[in-house]
Parts: sequence; structure tokens; C-alpha cells
Amino acid sequence: MGAFCSSVVVLLLMMLFVDQVYGKQNDKNEFERSSANKGCDIYEGKWVYDDSYPLYNSSRCNFINFIFDCQKNGRPDTNYLKYRWQPYACNLPSFDGEDFLKRFKNKRIMFIGDSISLNQWQSLACMIIQTAMLDSADYTLERIRAVSTFTFLNHNVSLLFHRKAYLVDIVEKRYGKVLELQKISGGMWKQMDVLVFNSWHWWTFSPAKRKWDLIFDRHKLYRHMGQLVSYEKALNTWAGWVDEEVDKKIKVFFQGISPSTKKRNCYKEKGPLNGPAYPEGKPQAEVIVEKVLKSMSKEVHLLHITSLSQKRTDAHPSIYANANHTSMDCLHWCLPGLPDTWNNLLYAELIRI
Ligand SMILES: *[C@@H]1O[C@H](CO)[C@@H](O)[C@H](O)[C@H]1NC(C)=O
Ligand SMILES: *[C@@H]1O[C@H](CO)[C@@H](O)[C@H](O)[C@H]1NC(C)=O
Ligand SMILES: *[C@@H]1O[C@H](CO)[C@@H](O)[C@H](O)[C@H]1NC(C)=O
Repeated sequence: MGAFCSSVVVLLLMMLFVDQVYGKQNDKNEFERSSANKGCDIYEGKWVYDDSYPLYNSSRCNFINFIFDCQKNGRPDTNYLKYRWQPYACNLPSFDGEDFLKRFKNKRIMFIGDSISLNQWQSLACMIIQTAMLDSADYTLERIRAVSTFTFLNHNVSLLFHRKAYLVDIVEKRYGKVLELQKISGGMWKQMDVLVFNSWHWWTFSPAKRKWDLIFDRHKLYRHMGQLVSYEKALNTWAGWVDEEVDKKIKVFFQGISPSTKKRNCYKEKGPLNGPAYPEGKPQAEVIVEKVLKSMSKEVHLLHITSLSQKRTDAHPSIYANANHTSMDCLHWCLPGLPDTWNNLLYAELIRI
């Protein structure tokens, strides 16, 4: 009896301990109030199994691009949906769409970049719709050229996506499409309250896939330029634009490099890998992002998702990017899935800054 009691006590103590270490998610108000969370590195942590995940079912959000809808495309496993990011030093606020909409009443949030931004933007919209229990009459979605906008009607919140893969401009000339490394047209961006930028993967594409014929740097036209060289020049143009043009009231984020598993096939990957930071090494492009952000006078928050995403090679669509399983996508991410975590981190940042 005594032995039984003490083992129960030990068990209870262990449960308490585990609960403190691996936490749960916090209430958002608690996250906001606690000053310890201000300094917490929310990007240092581990993936933990959580049965309450995923945060939504993609069938609730028919706008989700088919390449992200892995379950609908027949992905048979669901384990990859069940992981929550747990920082070592604090607990993330659990995502609350109603709270999100209240905080951003009458405000505009814009993602700018390539299909990785599209991935994250659609994820955030569905997280809001699910957790604020909205139905299709509560929001509108419209697309005008490169800009798509969700408007959440009850709180008048706009969530926009501007597809602009290189951030800098592409100008059509007689002799072809020119990627201008020192030209950036961000007039629309200045009307926003929150900006989340991302760019990289298009810089790596071969001439057959990319969107330009020539590249213009300072005073000269080039047919070729190294990926990292041209990327850094464009990011410096972007940084100069932000420093000069963006009002202090606007919160600016840059998303760290979203890792792709190009070298290998990502089909049937097992994850998550709770190993060291940067299991595949820190991408050179990420080094450039960090260097450019450090050189800026305006504070830009880095959404430091590279390392935690490298541990999730299981979270790419792989063959489930279409219903026929005819391609291998190790670049994008399934929804629900990893971008939901990026948005939970974005939510935490927005609460604490
Ligand atoms: C999502 O909802 C659909 C339709 O209700 C259902 O068939 C499917 O099993 C659900 N998916 C998951 C992963 O729960
Ligand atoms: C909705 O928000 C926008 C800014 O995002 C603002 O310009 C507009 O006046 C707001 N509309 C209402 C009805 O408050
Ligand atoms: C799948 O294959 C069929 C027949 O070849 C084709 O009509 C359809 O468009 C394909 N669907 C996708 C999602 O690729």
C-alpha cells in the first residue's frame, strides 16, 4: 500500500515536472504580461507530439492551393500533423483567431514574396477561420492581379498576399524582361500595418524556369549573375527602401530561409528530427539575410524558422502535391502543417513587440 502510494506520488511529481518542462501552450494574455517572454528565444526548442494538433482541417478552407492539400491528395499518414513547437525557455501562446482579429481591428497585414509566402498566408487565414469559428459569410477573398486579400468582415481585418518573388522589380523592355536589382516599388506596402517579407527560391531557378531574361545592376546589363551575389544586392535594395520609406509604426518581419530538400527525395521521410540546430548546415542565403538585417537602421524582426523547419523533412508534400502523385515537391509544405507553426511564432512576436 505504502509502496503504491509513494509510486503514485512519484508519478504525479513526474507528470508535473514533464508538464513544466514541455509545457502546454500559454494563454495569450499570460504571454503578453510576462516580461520573461520578451527575451525568450522562441526559435530554440524542440518538436513535441501533441494530440490536439492539427489546428484545422483543410476541408474547412476550400481556398487552400491543391499543392498544399496533402490529405486531399491522398497522403496516407497523419503523424506529421501532430507536432507542436515547444521553445525551451517559455511557452508559446496558443493561437486564438478571435484574439488575433481583435488585436488587428481595422488593420492590414501583408505577406510579400513567393509561393512560400502563399503557403503561410493561406495557413494563417485557415487558422483564423477555424479558431474564431468563422464561416464563409464572415470573410471575403478577392484577387486583383498579383494581390490577393482576405477581409474578415466582423473586425475589418485585411490579410493580404502580394506575389513578388524577387521583391525587386522586373521591367519589360524591347529586348526582354529585366530584373532590376536597384528598383523596388513598394508604394502599396507603406499602407500596411504589418509586413512579412520572404524571398529566395526564385533566385536559384535555372534560366528555363525563372521570370527574367536579363539582370540590371547599377549601370550594366548581365545575362548571368551568381544566385547569392544577385540575392544580396536585391536584399540590400530592399533594406535601403525599408530604412528610408517605412514608417516606424509599421511592424516589419523577414522570414528566414525556408529549407528545401533538393538533394534528396523527401517521400516517406520520418520526422521530426530532434537533433542539433541546422541539421543540414545553415544555408548560405540565411547567412546573407542575417547580415543584411544587421546592417539596417530600422528594426526588422527575423522570423527565424530555418533551423526548426530543417527538422521537418517529413512536412513537405513530396508526391502528395497532386492527386496523381506525378511530381516530387520538397519545397512547399503541407497544410495543415509546418507553416501553422510559423504563424504561431508570428503571433507570439506580434503579441510581445
Ligand atoms: C477532414 O474532414 C474531412 C471531411 O469532413 C474528413 O473526411 C477527413 O477525414 C478530415 N481529415 C482529418 C485529417 O481529420
Ligand atoms: C477598415 O480598415 C481600413 C484599414 O485597413 C480603413 O481604411 C477603413 O476605414 C476601415 N473601415 C471601417 C468601416 O472602419
Ligand atoms: C490526373 O490525371 C488525369 C488523367 O491523366 C488528369 O486529367 C488530371 O488533370 C490529373 N490531375 C492532377 C491533379 O494532376
